[in-house]
Amino acid sequence: MHPTRIYLTGFMGSGKSTLGPIVANVLGYTFQDLDAAIVERAGKPISAIFAEEGEAAFRALEATLLRETERDKEAVIALGGGALTFEENLRWALNHGVVVYLKVPLEELIERLIHGRSVRPLLLDAKGEVLPYDLLFEKINAMMERREPYYQRAHIVLEMDEHRVGSAVDEVIKALRQYGKAFS
Ligand code: S3P
Repeated sequence: MHPTRIYLTGFMGSGKSTLGPIVANVLGYTFQDLDAAIVERAGKPISAIFAEEGEAAFRALEATLLRETERDKEAVIALGGGALTFEENLRWALNHGVVVYLKVPLEELIERLIHGRSVRPLLLDAKGEVLPYDLLFEKINAMMERREPYYQRAHIVLEMDEHRVGSAVDEVIKALRQYGKAFS
């Protein structure tokens, strides 16, 4: 098998968009960010898509643009955290590339997300206000419980205990090399 696409999945804040471009660079692949493609296609930020058109419209666009990545060759593609938590999307990605789940412990995720929560519509309350720490914890915990069974079906599940970006990149590359000779 010669995989041409690597899909990075995992919860918001797991490092997909940070590690993705560096992993791509090491492999000599191009980098694509599905959220950025959605923003470009919609012509507005993700928070505006959610606020003006609703989550269903966002998910429809996400599903369409995910399938358009079939055109990409030798590409690392960072997906939004919810993209592969829909059965059809997950099956499609598993059939069109190597899916890598960046698994980050819950406490670490909260640390990372507490600051950036205002720009992530799913981490706000019903009125669009930021949640205090305890409610944010509960919300992320509940979302993780629902999503984990999907994430676990990735071809590669990587426990990201490493905090330094350089070492985390090394771990991803090592796992890819172990997974398939195509990356060696
Ligand atoms: C989402 C994650 C976001 C973005 C949208 C929905 C999710 O991407 O796609 O806000 O459902 O987890 P990141 O995972 O890059 O933050």
